[in-house]
Amino acid sequence: MNDNCVIRVNGLKKIFTGREKGKTKSVEAVSGISFNVNNGEIFGLLGPNGAGKTTTMRILCTLISPTSGSVSVLGYDLLKHQNEIRKNIGYVSQKGGLELRSTGKENLILQARLYGMSSLDAERRADELIDKLDLKSFAFRKAKTFSGGQKRLFDLATGIIHKPKILFLDEPTTGLDPQSRSHVWNEVKKLYDDGTTIILTTHYLEEADVLCNRVAIINLGKIVELDNPALLKRRIIAGDIIVLNFGSGDSLEFAKKILAAESYVKEIQSADTMLQVYVDEGDRSLPVVMGLMNKNNLHVQTVSLSRPTLDDVFLKLTGRKLIEPEQLSEKD
Ligand SMILES: Nc1ncnc2c1ncn2[C@@H]1O[C@H](COP(=O)(O)OP(=O)(O)O)[C@@H](O)[C@H]1O
Ligand SMILES: [Mg+2]
Repeated sequence: MNDNCVIRVNGLKKIFTGREKGKTKSVEAVSGISFNVNNGEIFGLLGPNGAGKTTTMRILCTLISPTSGSVSVLGYDLLKHQNEIRKNIGYVSQKGGLELRSTGKENLILQARLYGMSSLDAERRADELIDKLDLKSFAFRKAKTFSGGQKRLFDLATGIIHKPKILFLDEPTTGLDPQSRSHVWNEVKKLYDDGTTIILTTHYLEEADVLCNRVAIINLGKIVELDNPALLKRRIIAGDIIVLNFGSGDSLEFAKKILAAESYVKEIQSADTMLQVYVDEGDRSLPVVMGLMNKNNLHVQTVSLSRPTLDDVFLKLTGRKLIEPEQLSEKD
């Protein structure tokens, strides 16, 4: 057993039961997952909409109860010591929770008071966070006037008002423009540098790749893989990807046949006018591949060599892309 664990999840299951058109209907949102989170790490839950990420987080935050399985947070049993757990964690939900008619600072003070701080301490803590997260230019405006990015930064500030040891962030940057996203991630990174354990969900795999020490890939309520992003890419994709674009689909099958006979080619996938060729060492294979194409009069319009991304890992594991671009603007 690893003593460094702050969260232990064992065989966690959640079945929602409701009634629809007079019939009982149940949905298994989480299907018996197990994982541990280490002290001081950023742990990412990645998966498409409906995978069970939010449900898992809400259980870990004591907001809903599990159907079965066991969870301990900071050594406290989830079912027996909810108050102790709540004192030590912060949760920023997918939708956020600002009081829109109050100013940013008033929101912080309200939250601090809810955690039992005196009004003087609450005021001090609010000022400290406004300074720390660089919120001054809009802290005194009503929250309803905030941009999406400004709201998210204040959501983050309310989540850490009581200096939690563990912070849960559900989709902290979904729907934000790239600049606001990077601002939010910078603040998350600072909290991590200060020693806070962070569990987050995100649709942005590039960011998860850079930020997370470990990621769990969730699909249909189950953990499909769990590892450090770099190790995961190496293990699942094992190599680099050469993308050959022929400009038309005509010669695709012929090119595929030629490449499939090469010993350094591990796998080939075709899409439209392109072949994705998985190879051990891209730098060395690329000139050989191009030589073969020339020799066989196969005209390659464009070629690129890429290191695998978490998107590639996800596609390989589940046969689907994590998220279609139009889903990003969807509010759920
Ligand atoms: N309160 C609820 N009642 C019934 N079904 C729910 C409820 N919350 C979530 N679900 C269902 O559980 C599944 C997982 O949802 P969720 O945890 O929100 O996924 P994610 O956050 O990964 O998008 C979905 O099928 C969703 O419709
Ligand atoms: Mg969700």
